[in-house]
Amino acid sequence: MTGITLAGQARIISVFFMANTILVGGQWGDEGKGRIIDVLAEKSDYVVRYQGGNNAGHEVHIGDAVYVLHLIPSGILHPGKVCVIGNGVVVDPVALVDEIKNLRRQGIRITPQNLVISETAHLVLPYHKLLDAERESRKGAQKIGTTKRGIGPAYGDKAARIGIRVLDLLKTARFREKLRTRIEENNAILRAGGGKPLSFDAVCAECLRAGRFLRPFIRNGVTLLHDAMRQRKNILFEGAQGTLLDIDFGTYPYVTSSHPTAGGACVGSGIPPTCIDRVVGVVKAYTTRVGEGPFPTQYDDELGTEIQKIGDEFGRTTGRGRRCGWFDSVVVRYAQQINGINDLAVTKLDVLDHLSELKICVAYRNGRKAYRTIPMDLDDLRRCKPVYETYKGWQTSTKQVRRYRDLPLNARTYLAAISRHCGAPISIVSVGPRRHETVLVRNSS
Ligand code: GDP
Ligand code: IMO
Ligand code: MG
Repeated sequence: MTGITLAGQARIISVFFMANTILVGGQWGDEGKGRIIDVLAEKSDYVVRYQGGNNAGHEVHIGDAVYVLHLIPSGILHPGKVCVIGNGVVVDPVALVDEIKNLRRQGIRITPQNLVISETAHLVLPYHKLLDAERESRKGAQKIGTTKRGIGPAYGDKAARIGIRVLDLLKTARFREKLRTRIEENNAILRAGGGKPLSFDAVCAECLRAGRFLRPFIRNGVTLLHDAMRQRKNILFEGAQGTLLDIDFGTYPYVTSSHPTAGGACVGSGIPPTCIDRVVGVVKAYTTRVGEGPFPTQYDDELGTEIQKIGDEFGRTTGRGRRCGWFDSVVVRYAQQINGINDLAVTKLDVLDHLSELKICVAYRNGRKAYRTIPMDLDDLRRCKPVYETYKGWQTSTKQVRRYRDLPLNARTYLAAISRHCGAPISIVSVGPRRHETVLVRNSS
């Protein structure tokens, strides 16, 4: 199979070449990772989440059914795949129980045979969520716009070596002891901020109840995945969030507290970098961002509202409207570098079907200074103005298209420009949220 790169320049990649594949978001999250995982999971044996928590919301449409995954890998929707919540994830045990129950209610089979929770993953506990909300409200206008799922405080405890892990849920006396210390310390912080303290008894009972439910799913994830590799199974790593939300490489401090980038897949699962065969970057055909922070290519209000509506750009975790903007190849080129993206999956092309003209940002400019890469100092980034190339729209529906060559010429020109500016071939284009609304790129002609 061939991916599109520069017009006329072909590079061999197989859409379904699996081995061990990492799938990452190449922008600010919500690129359609769950939807592309759903396509790639068909040929994989294991699907592994390696970072983040239930701040993620991955929506997958299968027929008329819509599933939203927060902690559970999207591969769970394919019977027979083993889904692993890796050690790098932070797990809210109560939210995970709810997610399992909700998916079961939707008819999805979830058993300890197809879902494994790594014993060394850290827990998100009620004080993390309260602290997250409290820190945000204290920041006022400087707030990050977090999902308030306790992600930052949970990773903070992990780094400070005061976290409580999934395996602690299995030993009641030890769990009670650890939790008591943590609640005493955090209640003092909450009281000082004018908040209500937590009841140790209520939190402990709730967590242990969730722990009893989750017990059969809890295992050593590293051993499991290394056994799978010995059996030559294909492992697909499902990133959450996106490269520009990475705590090191993103638009700090307007980031999440984990590593959504490809490197995160290794530390978040115990698979060595030498065992990774391919990295797929998922990007929208435009750009969105939910929460605060700079966004150079954000549309003006009118177009922003229009694309938000057509693209149904409302967060699946918090319901917040996502800010929308033109495709930013400065961002995606950077994501290509950081992650070593082999090929791109471009989603939501259909959302742009009606536009008469499209723009791609190819560089930034601040006065006389030009930037080909994203400045890490946010004061500089805020002053940057995008330099755009303009492309003609195709103004016809792409929703029914299943072969690359059947896409309108202007759409192919637009995609070829994305590929050229981002330095990676495109292997998948999606033209609708459903499984079959997918164009597997076989050649560029
Ligand atoms: P994720 O967090 O990266 O998995 O992305 P989300 O699920 O949060 O957001 C992507 C949204 O776009 C979801 O509502 C998907 O159902 C939807 N979606 C994905 N691909 C397409 C596409 O090609 N066209 C359209 N119209 N919607 C899509
Ligand atoms: P998926 O996996 C988009 C954003 C939040 C906020 C920042 C920090 O669905 O792509 P956090 O709660 O993590 O401390 O919030 O990160 N954010 C996301 N934006 N998609 C996500 O996940 C996100 N997860 C967190 O909006 O700006
Ligand atoms: Mg999402």
